[in-house]
Amino acid sequence: MTTRRPLIAGNWKMNGLQESGAVELALLQQRVTATRPAAEVVICPPATLAANFAVQVRGSGIGIGGQDCHVKASGAHTGDISAEMLADAGASHVIVGHSERRADHGETDGLVRTKAEAAHRAGLTAIICVGETLEQRDAGRTIEIVSGQVAGSVPEAATPANTVIAYEPVWAIGTGRTPTEDDIAAVHAAIRRRLADWLSQGADFRILYGGSVKPSNAKEILALKDVDGALVGGASLKAADFWPIVEAAG
Ligand code: 13P
Repeated sequence: MTTRRPLIAGNWKMNGLQESGAVELALLQQRVTATRPAAEVVICPPATLAANFAVQVRGSGIGIGGQDCHVKASGAHTGDISAEMLADAGASHVIVGHSERRADHGETDGLVRTKAEAAHRAGLTAIICVGETLEQRDAGRTIEIVSGQVAGSVPEAATPANTVIAYEPVWAIGTGRTPTEDDIAAVHAAIRRRLADWLSQGADFRILYGGSVKPSNAKEILALKDVDGALVGGASLKAADFWPIVEAAG
């Protein structure tokens, strides 16, 4: 088994304007360049900021990611952005299958898998999101749902170098609620087993936890076996909140 470098990724969702965003990014960049943290750091801003951010962070070790991509490289798809366009803007990563896209845009596992393949085609690392709803958790179906999403959303050709899995329980996103440490550990272990049984390098994929990660709970969550980092929403918008989470990764 190879060592898995922790990844702390910030998902800004539909937040961030040029000027204030650049200020927060600069603050984060100062910390990263001064400290060279153990964790890999990626910021996924809205697409409007990606190109400028990529220029701003050049040489700092911070990666820039998109929040979604179309399956095609180009064409008549008004409002969509391709993986190739993100790569052209300087991005290295793209989130696919976030539960907000699955819910707001009806994205299925099959579509998410094709988007991950598009990311790979463009040379991007795909951060593939999975996670159960509260109803599914209450029905005791968490492992079944999440394992099914992994099987359906991860391309067969995925490798630990081009793919990261993010486990984000839908009910924990933006709510301040998190699963117990035992619950997080159990789901991450199940995802790793599912990948290891299926893909030759399956055991080596990084599996992030996401959902109400903040400075006060990051250390405990990131210390769990099989948790290789975090996908952070609200607490990634301010460098003062995000940086302690990066530091908590070791
Ligand atoms: P919060 O950290 O705001 O709960 O969001 C998590 C998330 O959805 C990251 O993709």
